[in-house]
Amino acid sequence: MAILQNRLGALGALCGVVLAGLVLFVACLAHAQTSNSCLDCHAGLPDPLGVSQEKFSQDVHAQKGLTCVSCHGGDPTSDDPDKAMNKKAGWKGKIERKQIPELCGSCHSDPYYIRQFNPGLRTDQLDQYRTSVHGKRLVAGDTKVAVCIDCHSVHDIRAPSDPRSTVNPVNVATTCAGCHANDGYMKGYSIPTDQFAKYDVSVHHEALAVRGDLSAPTCSTCHGNHGAVPPGVDKVQNVCSNCHAFQDQMYEKSSHKKAFQASSLPGCVVCHSNHAITYPSDAKLGTGPEAVCMRCHTPGDKCDQARARLQAKLISLDLAIKKADQALALAESSGMEVGEARMAQAQARDSLTKARVTIHSFQESLADQDIQAGLKIAAEDLQAGQAAMVERNRRRAGLGVSLVAIGMVLAGLRLYIKKIER
Ligand code: HEC
Ligand code: HEC
Ligand code: HEC
Ligand code: HEC
Ligand code: HEC
Ligand code: HEC
Ligand code: HEC
Ligand code: HEC
Ligand code: HEC
Repeated sequence: MAILQNRLGALGALCGVVLAGLVLFVACLAHAQTSNSCLDCHAGLPDPLGVSQEKFSQDVHAQKGLTCVSCHGGDPTSDDPDKAMNKKAGWKGKIERKQIPELCGSCHSDPYYIRQFNPGLRTDQLDQYRTSVHGKRLVAGDTKVAVCIDCHSVHDIRAPSDPRSTVNPVNVATTCAGCHANDGYMKGYSIPTDQFAKYDVSVHHEALAVRGDLSAPTCSTCHGNHGAVPPGVDKVQNVCSNCHAFQDQMYEKSSHKKAFQASSLPGCVVCHSNHAITYPSDAKLGTGPEAVCMRCHTPGDKCDQARARLQAKLISLDLAIKKADQALALAESSGMEVGEARMAQAQARDSLTKARVTIHSFQESLADQDIQAGLKIAAEDLQAGQAAMVERNRRRAGLGVSLVAIGMVLAGLRLYIKKIER
């Protein structure tokens, strides 16, 4: 029994030693795997050669286990710069701008490779990029155009969903503006540099950046992330219909559609512009500074007359709704029940919204249907509000009469009591 105990003790000790050895071995292995002489040395170098541990640890590639060598090649196990950065060890050195799309594409265009990490990630960025103005000009030798790292940054590339990513929807406009709003950088090109300034004051920017409405477009939504145009769009100028489908349906019916196409005019953008899209108002149909119609139509012609009637009707519906609103508010504050008419007002407002969509057919009769429907409801609601006030006045009058009667009875009673007392 004692012998057995001794043997067991010895076995236990042996196991302990083996286990400790194993732990040490695994630790060494792990060290060998994470040892990265490139990062160790470059972390201490000044810009532009410096790449800090802190920065690189934010990079999606580092987070997925890739290292400096995945892009630059070389031998990361050697502390000797001549061995580490040796062409024989596959070291590529600094990647020239012209080579960058090919480098990124070497992994990102390979569906078999990418699938191992993220089966849902697209692998068409390089193909798409080649169709863009950026991609085409780069091939032709213009290295000032955007390459992958101008939009994505380098050494701290993040997934687009990360709010700190340079291509997160909220940051895209600033990223593009880095070049496109820079007069010095864009000197020598014939295109304007006002896109950002205009987009910055647009309804779209307000919806996206101020109200956090991610369904509103930023630069890359209309221009495509990588390609010349977003998927399903033949020309950038036709992109609006992706989101504003109802206006588009109406516009398709209009004679503007045919007429604009015949003279190669771009559609929605003719009246709304592309970057500085503002809140539309009925004034856009007028003849003042916001107006768009009179650029083409002659005062007094049949289209101008139709325009004037449409504007007048929209304004009258707007006014009718406001008047009914006021009447209902007054009735409500006087304690009258007008809930039903209040609900109906929502329908009147809907009709106005619809009419402002339907005008895109530029057929008076179509817009008129919505306007008349709205006017009818607003008139009924106005009446309901007014009737409620008449009812209230009637009740007040009734109350007044009863008060007078009660007062007279009381006075009579008093006289009578006095008479009895005497
Ligand atoms: C002991 C320090 C040291 C190590 C280790 C080291 N580098 Fe460097 N590296 C430098 C210095 C210094 C320079 C700048 C001088 C030069 O170009 O040789 C440089 C330059 C570079 C450049 C820019 C070359 C250019 O043309 O501008 C790249 C890219 C680079 N290193 C990547 C790497 C990679 C990848 C590794 C690991 C495989 C690595 N380095 C390892 C010190 C180091
Ligand atoms: C996803 C690919 C990728 C990874 C990973 C990567 N780099 Fe780079 N690196 C690039 C590209 C692309 C450039 C060219 C940047 C430019 O033209 O401004 C570059 C440039 C450099 C330069 C030259 C900077 C200059 O302006 O001269 C150095 C040095 C460098 N990288 C070191 C590193 C080190 C060290 C690591 C690892 C910590 C690393 N890189 C990881 C893609 C990568
Ligand atoms: C050695 C292969 C390789 C190279 C080279 C490479 N990448 Fe990646 N990249 C990956 C892998 C793997 C992922 C992780 C995919 C995942 O899990 O989502 C990734 C992720 C990304 C993501 C985040 C995608 C997402 O939505 O999650 C972006 C953006 C990106 N890479 C851009 C670049 C750019 C720009 C370059 C060139 C400077 C580049 N990559 C070079 C392999 C590579
Ligand atoms: C003009 C700016 C720009 C350039 C150039 C660019 N990207 Fe992108 N990239 C974006 C934007 C914007 C997104 C999408 C953000 C989102 O999904 O909201 C994106 C998304 C990605 C993604 C995530 C998956 C996807 O397709 O949505 C990868 C990977 C990627 N880019 C790789 C690349 C590579 C590789 C290159 C070079 C061949 C490149 N990008 C060039 C702006 C750019
Ligand atoms: C590194 C600088 C740079 C960045 C960043 C950049 N661009 Fe460009 N872009 C250029 C240059 C240079 C041209 C060529 C100008 C020309 O076409 O005459 C160009 C051309 C274009 C064109 C074609 C213009 C035309 O009609 O010829 C569009 C559209 C465009 N860029 C959109 C974008 C968008 C959207 C972004 C951001 C997602 C972006 N760019 C980011 C430099 C940049
Ligand atoms: C609502 C869609 C939309 C948004 C958002 C948008 N654009 Fe445009 N952009 C257009 C249209 C449409 C054109 C005209 C294209 C045509 O005529 O084929 C255009 C033209 C351009 C051009 C060509 C030169 C010019 O000004 O005509 C550049 C460059 C450009 N946009 C960059 C940008 C940048 C940068 C942003 C973000 C700050 C941006 N765009 C936001 C729709 C948009
Ligand atoms: C990616 C979707 C998307 C695209 C593409 C788009 N828009 Fe918009 N647009 C929106 C959103 C979201 C709003 C904000 C709606 C709101 O305020 O309720 C908006 C608002 C507007 C408004 C103001 C509407 C209002 O009721 O105040 C106009 C006008 C407009 N867009 C015109 C255009 C034109 C013209 C184009 C094409 C050049 C275009 N949009 C492209 C999504 C889009
Ligand atoms: C011939 C000029 C013209 C064209 C072309 C045009 N619009 Fe309009 N659009 C207007 C006017 C005028 C208004 C303002 C109506 C009002 O508020 O009374 C308007 C209003 C709008 C509104 C806001 C509607 C609302 O609820 O207040 C949107 C969104 C819109 N247009 C999108 C588009 C789209 C998308 C296209 C292309 C399919 C387009 N427009 C083509 C003149 C035009
Ligand atoms: C870019 C020039 C242009 C602008 C801007 C423009 N139109 Fe037109 N419009 C035309 C042309 C061309 C026609 C077709 C030929 C014709 O009937 O005169 C047309 C036709 C019409 C018609 C007749 C439709 C039919 O089917 O009979 C009406 C109504 C009309 N436009 C109203 C407007 C209104 C309202 C605006 C402003 C919101 C406007 N237009 C802005 C050029 C324009």
